Amino acid sequence: MFDPIRFGITLSQALNSIKHTPGSFSSLYGIDKDEVSAVIDGISEPSARLISILENHPVIDFTLFSDDLCKFKNTYIPKNLFLQSKKVSNKSKRSFVRGKINYYTYKDLAASFDSPFLPEHITPNLKYNVEDKVELDNCYFNKGHLEHQITLFIGEVNFHWKRGSKKYIKAMNNLDLNYITPYVPHTFTTRKKGSYIVAITYKSIYSYFPSNEYKKYASDSTQVEAIENSNKQGVPAVEFWQGSHFNSPRKLINRVRTPEITLHSTDFRTSSYEGEIHSWLYVIEGNAEINDSNSIYQLLAGDSLLIKASGVIVEFKSPLTRIVEICLSVDKQQYERFVKLETSQLARSHTNAIFERMYNDTQTWF
Ligand SMILES: [Fe+2]
Repeated sequence: MFDPIRFGITLSQALNSIKHTPGSFSSLYGIDKDEVSAVIDGISEPSARLISILENHPVIDFTLFSDDLCKFKNTYIPKNLFLQSKKVSNKSKRSFVRGKINYYTYKDLAASFDSPFLPEHITPNLKYNVEDKVELDNCYFNKGHLEHQITLFIGEVNFHWKRGSKKYIKAMNNLDLNYITPYVPHTFTTRKKGSYIVAITYKSIYSYFPSNEYKKYASDSTQVEAIENSNKQGVPAVEFWQGSHFNSPRKLINRVRTPEITLHSTDFRTSSYEGEIHSWLYVIEGNAEINDSNSIYQLLAGDSLLIKASGVIVEFKSPLTRIVEICLSVDKQQYERFVKLETSQLARSHTNAIFERMYNDTQTWF
């Protein structure tokens, strides 16, 4: 029924994308961890129960397990609005140990199998003083992940990343944002208790079909050659925006190397969008009301929301309200363009070796 090798790789990537390990996922669903690991390793075929869990999972897109190479073309817009309250997010709380300490506490935010967003609320627990200039131990870094990441920083959090063996650090402040290229190893530490990040990861176009197809999607051999030559130049692995954007909201669309992303901040009063756009919102503080043609939704701090945005009206109920919003086009007409952009970006950031890792990798993301 399934090719066990491909099924295992896809399962590993799907668990990574929702920030679960075989252990945390197995205990959540009461299944045997060894079974999940054996399926990931291609040793066993998935049981009917595991298939049923995956098929009915609210966030994992089960079509990724099929052989269809053009899954992106079948991606559809989620219906209306999906609100996840802070209270519901709190129920998904789980911690992961790194370097023998309770390193991160994760909470899921609004997500759906038919939307590209895979966001998490993450509290870093390791206190780190930038002034000490002590290099952070390797064991705290992840290996990077296939998803792109926009990070919103709340409080005082340090962002660490690696290029090859070289480590970098930047002290981030309240409401700062960054963008992290796929597969750039990174981690976060805290300078102040109570600080957290909203890690808004979103699917790569390569989340939708195998990465060994990438040459087919570069328009011709000349273009592939151009991409390969540009490897030498490289591109910045990360980008940054200061929290002051919340005082003078503007779109950051051209600053992010996947140009279908837009970031708003607080002061928009109404939103409506043309074309096929997925939108994702997180309320940082204050409260707001969102109307579509059917319902009114009350939003409080810590709530997150997925939107089929057309015609949605956002109304702020408090002058202090701050909301971060990200829009991602899934316009099928632009499919080929997205693939070319993503191919170029990945090749320039990592060299073409990254496509082999994307195709075969079954490691956890950390
Ligand atoms: Fe990440």
